[in-house]
Amino acid sequence: EEIANPRALPKTDIAYVDQLVETNICKAGPVFFHNGNDFPELLKNCLDAGPEAVIGAITQAQLRGHGGAGFATGLKWKLCREAPGATKYVICNADEGEPGTFKDRVLLTRSPQAVLMGMVLAASVIGAREGIIYLRQEYIYLKAYLEQQLQLFREQRLLGNNILGHADFNFDIRIQMGAGAYICGDESALIESCEGKRGTPRVKPPYPVEQGYLGMPTCVNNVETLVAVTRVMQEGAEWYQSLGTEDSRGCRLMSVSGDCQRPGVYEIEWGTTLNQLLTLVGAEDPWAVQISGPSGECVAVDKGGERRFGYGDLSCNGSVMIFNRSRDLLGIVKHFMQFFVDESCGICTPCRSGNVDLRNKMERIIAGRGCQQDLDEMVSWGQLVRSTSRCGLGGTSPNPILTTLQQFPELYQAKLTEQSGVLLPSFDLEAA
Ligand code: NAI
Ligand code: SF4
Repeated sequence: EEIANPRALPKTDIAYVDQLVETNICKAGPVFFHNGNDFPELLKNCLDAGPEAVIGAITQAQLRGHGGAGFATGLKWKLCREAPGATKYVICNADEGEPGTFKDRVLLTRSPQAVLMGMVLAASVIGAREGIIYLRQEYIYLKAYLEQQLQLFREQRLLGNNILGHADFNFDIRIQMGAGAYICGDESALIESCEGKRGTPRVKPPYPVEQGYLGMPTCVNNVETLVAVTRVMQEGAEWYQSLGTEDSRGCRLMSVSGDCQRPGVYEIEWGTTLNQLLTLVGAEDPWAVQISGPSGECVAVDKGGERRFGYGDLSCNGSVMIFNRSRDLLGIVKHFMQFFVDESCGICTPCRSGNVDLRNKMERIIAGRGCQQDLDEMVSWGQLVRSTSRCGLGGTSPNPILTTLQQFPELYQAKLTEQSGVLLPSFDLEAA
């Protein structure tokens, strides 16, 4: 009912949601069917309670950012509120670029008003006058629809000047399109892009809560985090806190793809095991599962099936790719490394150069020309890239290699033994 013109939306988005209704196991309830009828009342209550009360509720709920790193949302808002600055900004990170991740797209499609409500609440807490939705270029088809949702908010006086009659609360949101760069999912590269510059990550600290958009305190939150804030304020901190586990409260959405009967978007409580999720989606002879896209970890199902989703174990930014035994896992790893080579912004050497070297090593091994030294170097170079890169891209790009080496060493060893112990030079002497 919250979609004004469903025909403008791709059928796949609707299909994901229908699937979720059939299979939802999360006792949190159907996140996608939040309608915004009660939002004026909700915002009025929050404004009456005051910013400290809103921060208190989010903190009590122990809500952590759903972008992947899990930073405490209440603390982020508090830091931004307290940071000195004449102007402050709220940014919704809708640059959902991790391969295999598509749950923010469904939220923007089905619960856009819950996203907007989260932004308005953030603005009321930190004292922002302007908000930005940084929308992934590939989601440009959603722009007109989101503009329509913004207009509905303005008509309800949930955006604009004197929001709900509060003389000192003026806030509006604009949509900024990305240009197709994965790196702009990094919040500081995203901010650079919003400023009209090339999307290159900044050195942190200072964090955006201190110096963000145009050098001013900026609160950047993921789409799903903003929806979670709205739900916490609707349902109460105790409700959210009752879900999940000790170190990971609440629930989260999972984009599930690959070798399963029912791919789609699911909401699970933190603490759900990998095996439970695989059963839910009808995984067919699952062998390996890529958690959090290429930047996450690859888990062998027979070793890690009973691991639990949560910040203390299977930390997940919302995506699961399932591979059965018919898949060429090393080929997939090479493909992921190529992705990072393509998407590196190139500003720091370990990431710019190291990912190429790691990709080349993978090619060598797959071609049956690798030796044990190559495997050892992949580990040491991978650790070097991870520890010396400026941002999360280089901080995670070696993961496809490092985690498959750890979980599936036999695949690599089999490639080495194929050449019967003959070690070939790593480069073509004649060509050199
Ligand atoms: P981070 O840990 O540096 O920061 C996480 C958030 O907390 C940021 O908003 C940051 O500004 C804030 N923060 C951290 N320390 C702070 C402090 N002392 N004071 C104030 N604010 C602070 O992580 P980063 O580099 O922003 O994100 C890396 C994560 O992103 C990885 O864990 C990875 O899982 C995830 N990721 C998510 C993707 C997605 O599509 N959602 C894609 C690739 C990676
Ligand atoms: Fe750019 Fe990679 Fe360095 Fe990140 S780690 S700043 S993507 S070169």
